[in-house]
Amino acid sequence: MNSFLNKVIWITGASSGIGEALAYAFSAEGALLILSSRRIEELERVKKACAHPEQTKIILLDLLESSLLEIRTEQAIAAFGHIDIMVHNGGISQRSLVMETSMEIQRQVMELDYFSYIALTNHLLPHFAARRSGHFVVVSSVMGKLGTPMRSAYAAAKHALHGFFDCLRAEVSALHIKVTLLTPGYIRTNISLNALTKDGTKLGAPSANIEKGLAPELAARQILKAISKHKYESYIGKFGTESMALWINRFFPGFVIRQASKFAPK
Ligand SMILES: NC(=O)c1ccc[n+]([C@@H]2O[C@H](COP(=O)([O-])OP(=O)(O)OC[C@H]3O[C@@H](n4cnc5c(N)ncnc54)[C@H](OP(=O)(O)O)[C@@H]3O)[C@@H](O)[C@H]2O)c1
Repeated sequence: MNSFLNKVIWITGASSGIGEALAYAFSAEGALLILSSRRIEELERVKKACAHPEQTKIILLDLLESSLLEIRTEQAIAAFGHIDIMVHNGGISQRSLVMETSMEIQRQVMELDYFSYIALTNHLLPHFAARRSGHFVVVSSVMGKLGTPMRSAYAAAKHALHGFFDCLRAEVSALHIKVTLLTPGYIRTNISLNALTKDGTKLGAPSANIEKGLAPELAARQILKAISKHKYESYIGKFGTESMALWINRFFPGFVIRQASKFAPK
Protein backbone atom coordinates (compact mmCIF):
# COMPACT_ATOMS: atom_id res chain seq x y z
CA MET A 1 0.00 0.00 0.00
CA ASN A 2 2.16 2.84 -1.27
CA SER A 3 -0.51 5.50 -1.45
CA PHE A 4 0.43 7.17 1.88
CA LEU A 5 4.11 7.83 1.09
CA ASN A 6 4.85 11.52 1.91
CA LYS A 7 1.15 12.25 2.52
CA VAL A 8 0.51 14.69 5.37
CA ILE A 9 -2.00 13.14 7.76
CA TRP A 10 -3.50 14.80 10.84
CA ILE A 11 -4.87 12.30 13.38
CA THR A 12 -6.91 13.33 16.42
CA GLY A 13 -7.11 10.96 19.37
CA ALA A 14 -3.62 9.73 18.45
CA SER A 15 -2.54 9.01 22.04
CA SER A 16 -4.27 5.64 22.36
CA GLY A 17 -6.37 2.90 20.78
CA ILE A 18 -7.36 3.27 17.13
CA GLY A 19 -5.59 6.64 16.67
CA GLU A 20 -2.34 5.27 18.06
CA ALA A 21 -2.52 2.20 15.81
CA LEU A 22 -3.24 4.45 12.82
CA ALA A 23 -0.16 6.54 13.63
CA TYR A 24 2.05 3.41 13.49
CA ALA A 25 0.41 2.12 10.31
CA PHE A 26 0.64 5.44 8.42
CA SER A 27 4.21 6.05 9.61
CA ALA A 28 5.26 2.61 8.40
CA GLU A 29 3.92 3.64 4.98
CA GLY A 30 6.14 6.76 4.97
CA ALA A 31 3.50 9.36 5.80
CA LEU A 32 4.21 12.70 7.50
CA LEU A 33 2.12 12.81 10.64
CA ILE A 34 0.55 15.34 12.97
CA LEU A 35 -0.57 13.66 16.18
CA SER A 36 -3.15 15.38 18.39
CA SER A 37 -4.89 14.78 21.71
CA ARG A 38 -4.65 16.23 25.25
CA ARG A 39 -1.87 14.11 26.82
CA ILE A 40 1.61 15.18 25.76
CA GLU A 41 3.46 12.24 27.41
CA GLU A 42 1.30 9.71 25.59
CA LEU A 43 1.72 11.53 22.27
CA GLU A 44 5.51 11.64 22.80
CA ARG A 45 5.44 7.89 23.50
CA VAL A 46 3.49 7.22 20.28
CA LYS A 47 5.76 9.52 18.26
CA LYS A 48 8.85 7.70 19.53
CA ALA A 49 7.37 4.32 18.59
CA CYS A 50 6.51 5.45 15.03
CA ALA A 51 8.64 4.13 12.17
CA HIS A 52 9.57 7.73 11.28
CA PRO A 53 9.53 9.93 14.42
CA GLU A 54 11.58 12.52 12.53
CA GLN A 55 8.61 13.18 10.25
CA THR A 56 6.02 13.11 13.03
CA LYS A 57 4.86 16.28 14.82
CA ILE A 58 2.65 16.81 17.84
CA ILE A 59 -0.05 19.44 18.32
CA LEU A 60 -1.77 19.36 21.68
CA LEU A 61 -5.52 19.63 21.26
CA ASP A 62 -8.53 19.49 23.56
CA LEU A 63 -11.53 18.91 21.31
CA LEU A 64 -13.76 20.50 23.98
CA GLU A 65 -11.88 23.83 23.77
CA SER A 66 -13.91 25.09 20.83
CA SER A 67 -12.37 28.58 20.86
CA LEU A 68 -8.93 27.08 20.10
CA LEU A 69 -9.89 24.73 17.26
CA GLU A 70 -9.29 27.32 14.52
CA ILE A 71 -5.77 28.15 15.71
CA ARG A 72 -4.98 24.44 16.14
CA THR A 73 -6.05 23.88 12.52
CA GLU A 74 -3.77 26.73 11.36
CA GLN A 75 -0.92 25.18 13.35
CA ALA A 76 -1.61 21.78 11.80
CA ILE A 77 -1.54 23.21 8.26
CA ALA A 78 1.68 25.09 9.07
CA ALA A 79 3.37 21.96 10.48
CA PHE A 80 4.26 20.62 7.00
CA GLY A 81 2.80 23.39 4.81
CA HIS A 82 -0.36 21.50 3.90
CA ILE A 83 -2.64 18.60 4.91
CA ASP A 84 -3.72 15.73 2.67
CA ILE A 85 -5.83 13.64 5.06
CA MET A 86 -7.63 14.60 8.26
CA VAL A 87 -8.58 11.66 10.49
CA HIS A 88 -11.34 12.67 12.89
CA ASN A 89 -10.91 10.00 15.55
CA GLY A 90 -10.64 11.46 19.08
CA GLY A 91 -13.73 10.89 21.17
CA ILE A 92 -15.51 9.36 24.10
CA SER A 93 -18.31 6.86 24.63
CA GLN A 94 -21.12 6.93 27.17
CA ARG A 95 -22.95 4.39 29.32
CA SER A 96 -26.15 5.62 30.96
CA LEU A 97 -29.91 5.38 30.62
CA VAL A 98 -31.68 8.31 28.92
CA MET A 99 -33.87 8.73 32.01
CA GLU A 100 -30.80 9.20 34.22
CA THR A 101 -28.57 11.24 31.90
CA SER A 102 -28.42 14.98 32.50
CA MET A 103 -28.52 17.46 29.64
CA GLU A 104 -25.00 18.45 30.63
CA ILE A 105 -23.71 14.97 29.77
CA GLN A 106 -25.82 14.79 26.60
CA ARG A 107 -24.31 18.11 25.46
CA GLN A 108 -20.75 17.20 26.48
CA VAL A 109 -20.76 14.02 24.38
CA MET A 110 -22.31 15.88 21.44
CA GLU A 111 -19.73 18.67 21.76
CA LEU A 112 -16.81 16.23 21.74
CA ASP A 113 -18.01 13.53 19.35
CA TYR A 114 -19.89 15.76 16.89
CA PHE A 115 -19.39 19.54 17.10
CA SER A 116 -15.60 19.42 17.44
CA TYR A 117 -15.42 17.35 14.22
CA ILE A 118 -17.64 19.86 12.44
CA ALA A 119 -15.59 22.82 13.67
CA LEU A 120 -12.26 21.30 12.61
CA THR A 121 -13.79 20.40 9.25
CA ASN A 122 -15.06 23.95 8.70
CA HIS A 123 -11.65 25.38 9.55
CA LEU A 124 -9.83 22.96 7.24
CA LEU A 125 -12.26 23.08 4.33
CA PRO A 126 -10.99 26.35 2.72
CA HIS A 127 -7.48 24.79 2.66
CA PHE A 128 -8.76 21.62 0.97
CA ALA A 129 -10.90 23.69 -1.44
CA ALA A 130 -7.98 25.92 -2.43
CA ARG A 131 -5.85 22.83 -3.15
CA ARG A 132 -8.78 21.07 -4.87
CA SER A 133 -7.85 17.98 -2.90
CA GLY A 134 -8.15 16.52 0.59
CA HIS A 135 -9.71 13.59 2.39
CA PHE A 136 -11.80 13.62 5.57
CA VAL A 137 -11.75 10.27 7.35
CA VAL A 138 -14.39 10.12 10.06
CA VAL A 139 -14.35 7.47 12.78
CA SER A 140 -18.03 6.91 13.48
CA SER A 141 -19.26 3.58 14.87
CA VAL A 142 -21.81 0.84 14.38
CA MET A 143 -23.69 3.08 16.84
CA GLY A 144 -23.81 5.66 14.02
CA LYS A 145 -26.20 3.37 12.15
CA LEU A 146 -28.37 1.86 14.89
CA GLY A 147 -29.18 2.25 18.59
CA THR A 148 -28.81 0.06 21.68
CA PRO A 149 -29.54 0.79 25.37
CA MET A 150 -27.23 3.00 27.48
CA ARG A 151 -25.60 4.83 24.53
CA SER A 152 -28.08 7.56 23.59
CA ALA A 153 -25.67 10.53 23.53
CA TYR A 154 -22.92 8.56 21.83
CA ALA A 155 -25.22 7.05 19.19
CA ALA A 156 -26.84 10.45 18.58
CA ALA A 157 -23.46 12.09 17.96
CA LYS A 158 -22.32 9.28 15.68
CA HIS A 159 -25.61 9.32 13.71
CA ALA A 160 -25.22 13.10 13.32
CA LEU A 161 -21.76 12.62 11.79
CA HIS A 162 -23.29 10.54 8.99
CA GLY A 163 -25.84 13.25 8.19
CA PHE A 164 -23.25 16.02 8.17
CA PHE A 165 -20.51 14.22 6.26
CA ASP A 166 -22.86 12.67 3.68
CA CYS A 167 -24.09 16.22 2.89
CA LEU A 168 -20.53 17.57 2.85
CA ARG A 169 -19.39 14.82 0.47
CA ALA A 170 -22.15 15.73 -1.96
CA GLU A 171 -21.19 19.43 -1.74
CA VAL A 172 -17.44 19.04 -2.28
CA SER A 173 -16.96 16.01 -4.52
CA ALA A 174 -16.63 18.34 -7.54
CA LEU A 175 -13.64 19.90 -5.72
CA HIS A 176 -12.05 16.43 -5.48
CA ILE A 177 -12.46 16.42 -1.69
CA LYS A 178 -13.25 12.95 -0.36
CA VAL A 179 -15.10 11.71 2.70
CA THR A 180 -14.77 8.22 4.20
CA LEU A 181 -17.05 7.32 7.10
CA LEU A 182 -15.86 4.35 9.18
CA THR A 183 -18.27 2.32 11.29
CA PRO A 184 -16.10 0.22 13.63
CA GLY A 185 -17.56 -2.63 15.64
CA TYR A 186 -15.76 -3.77 18.80
CA ILE A 187 -12.07 -2.77 18.77
CA ARG A 188 -9.82 -3.63 21.74
CA THR A 189 -9.09 -0.15 23.17
CA ASN A 190 -9.75 1.89 26.33
CA ILE A 191 -13.09 3.17 24.99
CA SER A 192 -15.15 1.40 27.63
CA LEU A 193 -12.84 2.40 30.52
CA ASN A 194 -13.09 6.05 29.41
CA ALA A 195 -16.86 6.06 28.73
CA LEU A 196 -18.86 8.70 30.60
CA THR A 197 -21.51 7.59 33.07
CA LYS A 198 -24.66 9.48 34.08
CA ASP A 199 -22.79 11.80 36.47
CA GLY A 200 -19.86 12.47 34.14
CA THR A 201 -17.39 10.13 35.86
CA LYS A 202 -15.53 7.53 33.83
CA LEU A 203 -17.00 4.02 33.72
CA GLY A 204 -13.54 2.64 34.53
CA ALA A 205 -14.62 -0.90 33.73
CA PRO A 206 -13.70 -3.09 30.78
CA SER A 207 -16.38 -4.47 28.50
CA ALA A 208 -16.31 -8.15 27.59
CA ASN A 209 -17.25 -7.36 23.98
CA ILE A 210 -14.48 -4.78 23.61
CA GLU A 211 -11.96 -7.19 25.19
CA LYS A 212 -12.91 -9.76 22.56
CA GLY A 213 -12.83 -7.15 19.79
CA LEU A 214 -10.41 -6.74 16.91
CA ALA A 215 -6.85 -5.71 17.79
CA PRO A 216 -6.31 -2.00 16.96
CA GLU A 217 -3.36 -2.83 14.66
CA LEU A 218 -5.67 -5.00 12.54
CA ALA A 219 -8.35 -2.31 12.62
CA ALA A 220 -5.73 0.18 11.37
CA ARG A 221 -4.87 -2.15 8.46
CA GLN A 222 -8.55 -2.30 7.48
CA ILE A 223 -8.83 1.49 7.79
CA LEU A 224 -5.82 2.17 5.54
CA LYS A 225 -7.32 -0.13 2.93
CA ALA A 226 -10.69 1.67 3.11
CA ILE A 227 -8.98 5.08 2.76
CA SER A 228 -6.79 4.04 -0.16
CA LYS A 229 -9.86 2.67 -1.94
CA HIS A 230 -11.68 6.00 -1.30
CA LYS A 231 -14.60 4.14 0.27
CA TYR A 232 -17.66 6.26 1.11
CA GLU A 233 -18.36 4.12 4.16
CA SER A 234 -16.70 1.04 5.59
CA TYR A 235 -17.28 -1.37 8.45
CA ILE A 236 -14.14 -1.98 10.52
CA GLY A 237 -13.88 -4.99 12.81
CA LYS A 238 -14.41 -8.71 13.06
CA PHE A 239 -17.18 -10.54 11.30
CA GLY A 240 -19.61 -10.98 14.18
CA THR A 241 -22.79 -9.75 15.84
CA GLU A 242 -22.07 -6.08 15.10
CA SER A 243 -21.34 -6.54 11.40
CA MET A 244 -24.40 -8.78 11.04
CA ALA A 245 -26.54 -6.24 12.93
CA LEU A 246 -25.44 -3.51 10.48
CA TRP A 247 -26.36 -5.63 7.49
CA ILE A 248 -29.67 -6.89 8.91
CA ASN A 249 -30.61 -3.34 9.97
CA ARG A 250 -30.57 -2.20 6.34
CA PHE A 251 -33.29 -4.63 5.36
CA PHE A 252 -35.05 -5.63 8.60
CA PRO A 253 -34.67 -2.73 11.07
CA GLY A 254 -37.58 -4.03 13.18
CA PHE A 255 -35.66 -7.21 13.93
CA VAL A 256 -32.61 -5.26 15.15
CA ILE A 257 -34.80 -2.97 17.28
CA ARG A 258 -36.42 -5.99 18.97
CA GLN A 259 -33.02 -7.60 19.64
CA ALA A 260 -31.57 -4.33 21.02
CA SER A 261 -34.49 -4.00 23.45
CA LYS A 262 -33.49 -7.30 25.06
CA PHE A 263 -30.25 -5.66 26.28
CA ALA A 264 -32.04 -2.96 28.31
CA PRO A 265 -31.16 -3.24 32.03
CA LYS A 266 -34.08 -4.80 33.93
N1 LIG B 1 -13.02 0.86 20.44
C1 LIG B 1 -14.17 0.61 19.85
O1 LIG B 1 -14.75 -0.49 20.00
C2 LIG B 1 -14.81 1.65 18.97
C3 LIG B 1 -15.94 1.28 18.22
C4 LIG B 1 -16.52 2.22 17.40
C5 LIG B 1 -16.00 3.50 17.31
N2 LIG B 1 -14.92 3.84 18.05
C6 LIG B 1 -14.41 5.23 17.92
O2 LIG B 1 -13.00 5.22 17.76
C7 LIG B 1 -12.49 6.49 18.18
C8 LIG B 1 -11.24 6.25 19.02
O3 LIG B 1 -11.59 5.57 20.21
P1 LIG B 1 -10.72 4.38 20.84
O4 LIG B 1 -11.55 3.18 20.77
O5 LIG B 1 -9.37 4.36 20.26
O6 LIG B 1 -10.71 4.82 22.38
P2 LIG B 1 -9.56 5.36 23.35
O7 LIG B 1 -8.45 4.40 23.40
O8 LIG B 1 -10.27 5.74 24.60
O9 LIG B 1 -9.02 6.67 22.61
C9 LIG B 1 -9.72 7.89 22.63
C10 LIG B 1 -8.82 8.99 22.11
O10 LIG B 1 -9.57 10.21 22.10
C11 LIG B 1 -8.80 11.22 22.74
N3 LIG B 1 -9.68 12.18 23.41
C12 LIG B 1 -10.63 11.95 24.36
N4 LIG B 1 -11.16 13.10 24.79
C13 LIG B 1 -10.52 14.11 24.12
C14 LIG B 1 -10.61 15.52 24.13
N5 LIG B 1 -11.46 16.17 24.94
N6 LIG B 1 -9.80 16.23 23.32
C15 LIG B 1 -8.92 15.60 22.50
N7 LIG B 1 -8.79 14.27 22.43
C16 LIG B 1 -9.58 13.53 23.24
C17 LIG B 1 -7.92 10.48 23.74
O11 LIG B 1 -6.72 11.21 23.97
P3 LIG B 1 -6.36 12.08 25.29
O12 LIG B 1 -6.97 11.41 26.47
O13 LIG B 1 -4.85 12.10 25.27
O14 LIG B 1 -6.93 13.45 25.00
C18 LIG B 1 -7.60 9.20 22.98
O15 LIG B 1 -6.47 9.40 22.14
C19 LIG B 1 -13.63 7.19 18.91
O16 LIG B 1 -14.19 8.17 18.07
C20 LIG B 1 -14.63 6.06 19.17
O17 LIG B 1 -15.95 6.54 19.24
C21 LIG B 1 -14.30 2.95 18.88
